[in-house]
Amino acid sequence: MRQQIAAANWKMNLTYQQGEELLDTILAEDITLSTHQRAVFAVPFPYLTMAQLRLAGKKHYAAAAQNCSDKKSGAYTGEVSAEMLKSIHIQYCVLGHSERREYFSEQNDTLAHKTAICLANGITPIFCCGEPLAIREAGIQTGFVETQLKESLFQFSEEEIRKIVIAYEPIWAIGTGKTASAHQAQEMHAHIRATLAAKYSPATANHIPILYGGSVKAGNAAELFALPDVDGGLVGGASLVAADFAQIIRALK
Ligand code: PGA
Repeated sequence: MRQQIAAANWKMNLTYQQGEELLDTILAEDITLSTHQRAVFAVPFPYLTMAQLRLAGKKHYAAAAQNCSDKKSGAYTGEVSAEMLKSIHIQYCVLGHSERREYFSEQNDTLAHKTAICLANGITPIFCCGEPLAIREAGIQTGFVETQLKESLFQFSEEEIRKIVIAYEPIWAIGTGKTASAHQAQEMHAHIRATLAAKYSPATANHIPILYGGSVKAGNAAELFALPDVDGGLVGGASLVAADFAQIIRALK
């Protein structure tokens, strides 16, 4: 079975102490994950080691970075490299979140570099794509997402692309309380998978987890995750509430 992932995206929220408490409360629920399931916590950089320590020994739980530099190393004040993340054994890195694209001008070509540098360091990119409201309203969302994938990912070999996780996050659903309907989510996920199948192979497309993001809540996770092409979620707001995120982890297929 394809990997199913519940990924928390804390964004720029919580103090260190609040982060410790949140993780401890979720871990106290002692949710056992099957071999194909993962619970991933994308925490702020200064909390990565804390999260690693707490998650150590918990099977199929992992910490993730929310971003990394597109540069290898050097005079780039304030940046964090994939090599640094690797040196503290980080296994996942969120890339191309719409907030990074919007507020920090990240473009498809820069994200291609970031993805390549994560792969070179053995870090699984959780590559985000998704359309803004105007594109959805114009009915051209599938082409928009396809271009994001093509310009950032399609230079990779089949072996490399199999190491990537994709997160489809319609921007109009992020932090708005407005979730994509089951039909809208399944339709886009199926389209992403078909695009991967056409470029690579059906077997590879079937192997790649595609997470849904955008107002995933404790109350709608099970319905979304049950969709045939939805392999879990990337969760912002609801990942900051222990009971809610625990329920979201439990909703994995
Ligand atoms: P949200 O955020 O769950 O608060 O909508 C999702 C995300 O931005 O990853």
